[in-house]
Amino acid sequence: PFEVYLRRMGRTVTVTPDVSVLEAVRGAGAEVLTSCEQGTCGTCLTPVSEGRPDHRDSVLVDHQRAANDCMVLCVSRSCGDRLVLDL
Ligand code: FES
Repeated sequence: PFEVYLRRMGRTVTVTPDVSVLEAVRGAGAEVLTSCEQGTCGTCLTPVSEGRPDHRDSVLVDHQRAANDCMVLCVSRSCGDRLVLDL
């Protein structure tokens, strides 16, 4: 599990292995637009302010992955214990 802090909402959610970041943040009341929910369309792309996403999508190109400043919430996870999202 890892923690996601929703910066604008001021809430922390725990993401367990059985749920996606998308499901976890929606459970906390965050509104995120989605379409494919399979990491291919980019609709759920969300700014990341801290932490290193474990990118599992097929949307971002290499330099975007390396920047660690956004992530696809429906499939990507975290490399570390904590991510801060601009939500
Ligand atoms: Fe399509 Fe997340 S909803 S990439």
